Amino acid sequence: MKAPNNPFITGGYFSAAYFCDRVQESSEIIRTLTNGNNMVLISPRRMGKTGLIEHCFHQKEVVTNYHTFLVDIYATSSLREFVFKLGKELFDTLKPKGKHFVDNFFSVISSLRPAFKLDPYTGAATFDIGIGEIHEAEFTLEEIFKYLESYDKPSIVAIDEFQQISRYPEKNIEATLRTLIQKCKKSNFIFAGSQRHLMHNIFFSSSRPFYQSASLLQLAAIHEAEYLPFVRKHFQHNKKEIDEETILEIYRLFEGHTWYLQQIFNELYSVTEPDGTCTLEMADKALRNKLYAYRPLFQSTLNLLPERQKEILYVIAKEGKVSQITSGSFNKRHGLPSPSSVQTSVKQLMDKDILTSENKVYSVYDRFFGLWLKDEFGTGWKI
Ligand SMILES: Nc1ncnc2c1ncn2[C@@H]1O[C@H](COP(=O)(O)OP(=O)(O)O)[C@@H](O)[C@H]1O
Ligand SMILES: [Mg+2]
Repeated sequence: MKAPNNPFITGGYFSAAYFCDRVQESSEIIRTLTNGNNMVLISPRRMGKTGLIEHCFHQKEVVTNYHTFLVDIYATSSLREFVFKLGKELFDTLKPKGKHFVDNFFSVISSLRPAFKLDPYTGAATFDIGIGEIHEAEFTLEEIFKYLESYDKPSIVAIDEFQQISRYPEKNIEATLRTLIQKCKKSNFIFAGSQRHLMHNIFFSSSRPFYQSASLLQLAAIHEAEYLPFVRKHFQHNKKEIDEETILEIYRLFEGHTWYLQQIFNELYSVTEPDGTCTLEMADKALRNKLYAYRPLFQSTLNLLPERQKEILYVIAKEGKVSQITSGSFNKRHGLPSPSSVQTSVKQLMDKDILTSENKVYSVYDRFFGLWLKDEFGTGWKI
């Protein structure tokens, strides 16, 4: 495989050589699944869930013994769309395996047969169906699972951004899915999600169908002791230098949040000449440039917010992390309206994914946005 131009991958998965650590997590996931159990994988967005799933799917043990499918349902809003996505993912994975697989797919999943079309130019089979043509989503889903069960090898199906199902309008989605999944003897599942409270409600509320149906893995940041040598190794591989202090300052500024680190080191790698050294000043400049590039996006996000919400957002961005969101003294100190009104605004900002909270400590979800706000409305930041 050709090496990527830049070893710091910022989208998707390339190969194990460009993937840092996650040794323990990978082995836990693989062990859980190969022992016939399902897995729930939870972390904030951009921490590395999807990458980790891909990484597991590339391990020899998995490649040899399983068929793997990864379906991202972030943009879906109904069971019909879910079924469409899953059907298409299966089809796209099977197609390269040959005509026999495609024929078998449409023969078992008869309700998707209208999706079978031939490309008029190449003659290749395509999966082409309007979401409106999926009439009985539940029935099709049942057929899809039946198909997986009839397959030569067992399957691992990862459903990414799974919390989305709790927004579907159809009734009893969770019960339906749970029943179908429970019937699968040859398939195991990874349910990944970024919205912790929604995921927790699905899997850890005793009244819900998925209650305790899967083992939990909460994905934390990659440890600095692993990330530091990873960065140095990739710089040095191309005769570039970067000192430990620079790496650590950046790591700490972003609290090890994977995507942000990869973004910055990708940039720093590209601006460091071969035989050159990456300095702290270069890092500062690279980060400021990055925030500047996002400026229009950040401004339009702010434009869409009512003043009440902006007020509290600025305070949180200024402070970085806030725990006493509804205490009287906090409100007074920052000239905020009544605690109940602050609470409403905070909830609305959380629903929009602009704020996030961890054990009742609130912060700006997007770390670049947080730094930018700190510059605009606070005392700035420094690495
Ligand atoms: N272990 C890792 N080593 C290096 N880069 C990683 C690692 N895990 C994730 N990434 C990168 O970080 C970014 C965010 O990861 P992703 O898996 O998309 O996060 P999530 O699914 O949690 O939102 C991606 O660009 C991915 O390439
Ligand atoms: Mg993801």
